[in-house]
Amino acid sequence: MNILIIGSGGREHAIAWKIAQSPLTDNLYIAPGNPGTALLGTNIKLNSDDHQQVINAIIELKINLVVIGPEAPLVSGLADSIRNNPQLSDVSVVGPGKEGAQLEGSKDFSKNFMFRHNIPTAAYKTFSKDELSEAYDYLKSLQPPYVLKADGLAAGKGVIIAQDILEAEEALKQMLVESKFGEASSKVVIEEFLSGIELSVFVLTDGTDYIILPEAKDYKRIGEGDTGPNTGGMGAISPVPFADSTFMSSVEKEIIKPTIDGLKSEGIEYKGFIFFGLINCNGKAKVIEYNARMGDPETEVVMPRIDSDLVPLLFAAGKGEIKNHSIQFKPEYAATVMLVSKGYPDHYPKGLTIALPENQGKAILFHAGTAMNNHSDLVTSGGRVLAVTHYGSSVANAFQEAYQVANKVQFDGIYFRKDLGYDLK
Ligand code: AMP
Ligand code: GLY
Repeated sequence: MNILIIGSGGREHAIAWKIAQSPLTDNLYIAPGNPGTALLGTNIKLNSDDHQQVINAIIELKINLVVIGPEAPLVSGLADSIRNNPQLSDVSVVGPGKEGAQLEGSKDFSKNFMFRHNIPTAAYKTFSKDELSEAYDYLKSLQPPYVLKADGLAAGKGVIIAQDILEAEEALKQMLVESKFGEASSKVVIEEFLSGIELSVFVLTDGTDYIILPEAKDYKRIGEGDTGPNTGGMGAISPVPFADSTFMSSVEKEIIKPTIDGLKSEGIEYKGFIFFGLINCNGKAKVIEYNARMGDPETEVVMPRIDSDLVPLLFAAGKGEIKNHSIQFKPEYAATVMLVSKGYPDHYPKGLTIALPENQGKAILFHAGTAMNNHSDLVTSGGRVLAVTHYGSSVANAFQEAYQVANKVQFDGIYFRKDLGYDLK
């Protein structure tokens, strides 16, 4: 089978790593990929905003399976463009169309969807620019802290948690009136604050049936002890100790199944991954957000924990034939530590030379923001640079092993959290 992965981050490297192990994989292409994926397949230059360019590549390279990694091409309808092309009717595409991707692309859409289908989530209201005074009134009816979310995609930065009412009002004004997140904050969702531990649950669905992948917990804050600004994710662990079978079966019954059934009943054909961002509120799971893709860095632990061949599952999901498939997990823990550039998540330099350890033992290094410079040196090209994944017999052991290798990677100003996993002991 010839397979094309769209994307260039740690998530896509981890998916490529898993796909490359399948005996069913003939040629693997990653567009645009990164220096890590270049070791597993062929990186090709494609602009995923240009759907016709992607379609031409699929035809030329005789691609059978396309996996769309990031949210932006999903929200822009790349999956629809491929599926609706009569020349590509045999191609299996993993990733929802534009409508399904609204689960991630519009917070207002996803909150409405959850309420329509009785899926547990925080109470909320949505406001537009001309409803500022109603929005202030709603804020006053809530208890602090206040949660404000830009409706549209804002590169993971569109959520503001304000500690007091003045901060909340100021943030609201910046979002609605001063377009802090551009068009994405032309509508703002204000919602009830939920407290508890978060976890990420992933399914691969063909729109009717689904397979639950290993769950994971990521660490969002930049600082140790969960302090400082939110990031894309500073590390992850799978499995999550508190996600026992009782917890997971209530998640399936109250959240996963109603979501898949809800999409189907609304005529939204959804073939791809769904990422359920959940919070455990005293034993009851509620949905914080949906994403229409896999998580990053969660994928860097989810892929290593899948024992089965993933390619038949991906192909079946895209073709609507997942019903008779099953999945096996590895029993070990997998932990990943994200190595970031100094200054991330705000401003950080790029182009810093990276020295990888001579001996990385059994660690798996996933490239997130790396590039090759003109002298063929590996350099940084993003805030999140590399994810170091390791298996272990416990949460602590898996992180310990990952840290041993993380300590040997070098670039100027390298930073990573040293406290990952401690909260789960
Ligand atoms: P989101 O982009 O919706 O995942 O939000 C980013 C982060 O903000 C989440 O991972 C949570 O840590 C936090 N967050 C979002 N919504 C809530 C909420 N209703 N209550 C508490 N924390 C929240
Ligand atoms: N790690 C969270 C995300 O991928 O959105």
